[in-house]
Amino acid sequence: MARTNFGSKLGIIAAAAGSAVGLGNIWRFPYELGQQGGGAFLLVYILCVLLLGLPIMLAELLIGRMGQHNVTGAFRSIGHPRWRFIGYAGVLCSFLIMGFYCVVAGWTIEYIWQAITNQFADKSTADLAAAFADFSTRPIRPIIWMVLFVGITCYVVLAGVQNGIEKSAKILMPVLFVLLLVLCLRSLTLPGGLEGVAFLFQPDFSKITPEVVLSAMGQAFFSLSLGMGCMITYGSYIDKKNNLEHTALQVTGLDTLVAVLAAIAIFPAVFALGINPAQGPELVFITLPNVFAHIPGGYIWAIAFFMLLSIAALTSTISLLEVITAFMNEEWKLPRRKAAIIASCTIAVLGVFASLSLGLLKDYTIAGMSFFDLLDNFTAKFLMPIGGLAIAVFCGWVLDRKRMEAELSNEGKLKLKYLKVFAFLLKYITPLAILAIFIDQLM
Ligand code: PHE
Repeated sequence: MARTNFGSKLGIIAAAAGSAVGLGNIWRFPYELGQQGGGAFLLVYILCVLLLGLPIMLAELLIGRMGQHNVTGAFRSIGHPRWRFIGYAGVLCSFLIMGFYCVVAGWTIEYIWQAITNQFADKSTADLAAAFADFSTRPIRPIIWMVLFVGITCYVVLAGVQNGIEKSAKILMPVLFVLLLVLCLRSLTLPGGLEGVAFLFQPDFSKITPEVVLSAMGQAFFSLSLGMGCMITYGSYIDKKNNLEHTALQVTGLDTLVAVLAAIAIFPAVFALGINPAQGPELVFITLPNVFAHIPGGYIWAIAFFMLLSIAALTSTISLLEVITAFMNEEWKLPRRKAAIIASCTIAVLGVFASLSLGLLKDYTIAGMSFFDLLDNFTAKFLMPIGGLAIAVFCGWVLDRKRMEAELSNEGKLKLKYLKVFAFLLKYITPLAILAIFIDQLM
């Protein structure tokens, strides 16, 4: 079957980076970092990106392009059908991530609305915190935004790989990047901001606990869209001329850069404004509106920022829905349209419960967590690292080394610079590190 390919080199990077860069970088990364020891978390995070993220990114793109199929089909078509369990877990994981991700994406739409109606001006930190708590625990409003977001995602996925995903990502992500730079500058120049810089860049090693390491690993998988077949699916749309080594490096680099920039935009302001860095999921939604109030033309900046954040979230939800749609379409022979719509309805139901679990249903907890937190923790701190472990073992031990080399070098046309390093990491370091982090949890 002929597959639609991403049109150009920039298109590939924009789409894969679009998947990677999203709420994970700007919402989840800062709040995890704030709760898990600041600079110590950042350091462990970077190590996880280098030792786990980068090799698995390459492995997934490789499997995808070699397989030319969806997450499960890829393993079958490269002659290892037993390993398609990775794909099933990936599809499940996509549903679960979408279940809470779309709730947060919905929040970004609310914040576009609040920015347009100028609701941040003259508000104190306490007012902003109260406003967020009031909104996010409401029974109806966040659900409407969530459903709207799922609907938009479904629409874009149905518009097709090439047109829908590529074009939007190519133009808008660089704009978001520039906006983040502006926010960094403002945040750094707020009086008292330097304390935030120290919090970020002077790691206190005594804060590195097993919990911090697990969180950093989970965050790396989550932020890079790894361990659940997203990059396998996108890899299958990459043409045979692309240099996968470069693509993996660029996407990983960009994603990490955006996360670090988001942290620099947020933490100096957190300290300058007296916000608790360990505030949790609401951190970004309290801090940034506050920063906008301190920027000339803040009204416009705020609107632009939350719009771009929504779009960054959209390029991620598109990739998540694409994993499911490609799977149902190729494996169950459902038309793409039907597949995307069924998946979206299921996701919306999950989303309703995730959203309500923060308000109306907050007394119902599972393992001491709200349904929202459960989805978040179970995917990032468990399913994705386990998926990553399986992918590393598959590439390091099962997949024929010659075939891997041929695929990565485009049948000998490219000189591979890092093959040895990648192969070594995938075979030993990556799987052992993931295992060690899990075992450390149990001790
Ligand atoms: N990486 C995305 C983000 O940082 C989230 C995501 C996870 C997207 C898994 C696809 C797959 O927001």
